[in-house]
Amino acid sequence: MYHQKLDSFPEKFLWGAASAAYQIEGAFKEDGKGPSVWDTFSKIPGKTFMETNGDVAVDHYHRYKEDVALMGEMGLKAYRFSVAWSRILPEGEGKVNEKGLQFYEDLVDEMLAHGVEPILTLYHWDLPEALQEKYNGWESRKTIQAFKQYCQILFERLGGKVKYWVTFNEQNVFTSMGYRWETHPPNLSNLERMFTANHVINLANAEAINLFHKMVPKGLIGPSFGYGPAYPSSARPEDVLAAENGEEFNNIWWLDVYCRGIYPKFVMKQLQKLKIAPEVTAADHELLQSSKPDFLGINYYHGGTFQENRIENKQNAKEAQKKEFSAIDPYLMQPNEEQAQSPEVPMFQSISNPYLDKTEWGWEIDPVGFRVALRRVYARYGLPIFVTENGLGAIDQLEEDGSIQDDVRIAYLEKHVLEMKKAITDGVEMIGYCAWSFTDLLSWLNGYKKRYGFVYVNRDEESEKDLKRIPKKSFYWYQELMKQNGANIMDNEVEE
Ligand code: BG6
Repeated sequence: MYHQKLDSFPEKFLWGAASAAYQIEGAFKEDGKGPSVWDTFSKIPGKTFMETNGDVAVDHYHRYKEDVALMGEMGLKAYRFSVAWSRILPEGEGKVNEKGLQFYEDLVDEMLAHGVEPILTLYHWDLPEALQEKYNGWESRKTIQAFKQYCQILFERLGGKVKYWVTFNEQNVFTSMGYRWETHPPNLSNLERMFTANHVINLANAEAINLFHKMVPKGLIGPSFGYGPAYPSSARPEDVLAAENGEEFNNIWWLDVYCRGIYPKFVMKQLQKLKIAPEVTAADHELLQSSKPDFLGINYYHGGTFQENRIENKQNAKEAQKKEFSAIDPYLMQPNEEQAQSPEVPMFQSISNPYLDKTEWGWEIDPVGFRVALRRVYARYGLPIFVTENGLGAIDQLEEDGSIQDDVRIAYLEKHVLEMKKAITDGVEMIGYCAWSFTDLLSWLNGYKKRYGFVYVNRDEESEKDLKRIPKKSFYWYQELMKQNGANIMDNEVEE
C-alpha cells in the first residue's frame, strides 16, 4: 500500500515509555518485600553480565518522585511499569504486605498528578521465589490460585485509578529462556516442562482477564507479546514453508490462545507426536474460550528469517549451531545437538537477514518489519494494538559538557514511529506506543552498558556512582514529537 499522505495519529494516542520492576526499582529486600526468582537467579555465578543484579538497579523505589517529575516535564502521556509480585505478597500468596501496595498506589498517584496515564503490568518475570520453591512455580496449577489472589488485590486497590493493564510480559521469551535455554529462572532445559508451564501460564492469563472484567468493568486488559514477523530467506517454496512454520511456532502458538482461546493445530499435533504436548482438559479449553483480551500488547524489536532445515540433514543442524547468534537474543536461538529432537528442528532454521543492519548487540534493525508486524497481527485478530515496547539498546556516551548525544536512538525511533504511522494509515487500529525505556535500566543479562532510556542514569556495572538522572538528546526529541502528536514524523518520499 502506498499513501500520498499519511493519516494523523489518533487524537488521544498514548505516547509513552516503559520499564519493569526488577530492572529499575532496587530496594530488593526493603519494606517487607520477599525474594523473587530473579533475586536468586542473578546471584548464580556466570548467569549475568559481570554478575550484575537488581539489588539497587537504578534505585527507582527511592527516586520515583524525581522520575515521575521528569515524565511530567517531558510531557509523557503514558508510563508502563510492572508490579513486583513479592512486594505485595512476600510469600507469593497469603499475607499481604501493605507497604508494598502503598508504594504502587503512591507511584500511580504521582503519575496521575503529572498527567501521566499509568499502564500496569502484572507480571514482568519476577515470580516470588517462595512459589518456585513450594510449587515449582508455573509448572503447578497452584500458582494460578496465587496469581489470582495477587491480581484481585491489585484490581481492588488500583482498579479505580489505572485503566490499562497488562497480564503477562513476553510469555514466549520468559518460558523459552527459563525452561529451555537456561538463561532465565528457573534455569532449565526441558521442553516438556516448558510446555507444561506455558499452558499453566495461559490458564493464569485467562483467569486474570476474566477476573478483571468482573472487577474493573471500565478498564482494559491484554497480554504483551514479543512479536517478530517471520520472513522466508528466499522465494523457494521450501523456504516459504519454513517461514510459515517459524510464524506458527514463534508467534501463532501463543497468539491464537490469547485471542481465540485455541491451541493452533499444526504445532499441537507436532508436540503430541513428540509426546511433549501439554495436557489440555475440557475445563481448560472452556476457560481459554471464555476469556478475551481488550487489546493486544506488542513488544517489537525485530523479526526472524527462516530457511528450510531437514532433520535428516545433520550438517544443517551443526551449521546452525556454529552461527554466531547472540546468546541473549531469545528470538533467534538455535537448538544444540541434544535438543535436536526439538519440535521445530525439522521445520525451519533461523538465518541472519542480509538486508538488515544490526545493533551493537547483534539485533537486526528492521522498521519496515514493524509495519509488517502490526499489519499481520491486526489482520489476524482484529484487536486494537498497544505497542508496549520498542527501542534501541546502545552504548551511550556521557560527554564532558554533561550531555548525551544519542542520535542513533533518535534515528531508530523515528524510523519505527514512521512505519507505525504508515500502519495506522493502512488501517491498523492502535491505542498507543511505549518506547523502551524511560530511564536507563538493568538489562536482564547485559548489565548497565546496554542502555535504552530517554534519561541517562549515571551508574555502571562497577559502581552505583551518584545515580544522577540526565535527560538525553532523545528526551527532547520525544518531547517535541508528543507535543505535535507525531505530525512532525513524515515520509520524505511520499509527502510534499
Ligand atoms: C524485552 C523485555 O524482551 O526486551 C525487557 O520485556 C527487556 O524487559 C527488553 O529489557 C530488552 O532486552 P535486553 O536483553 O536488551 O535488555
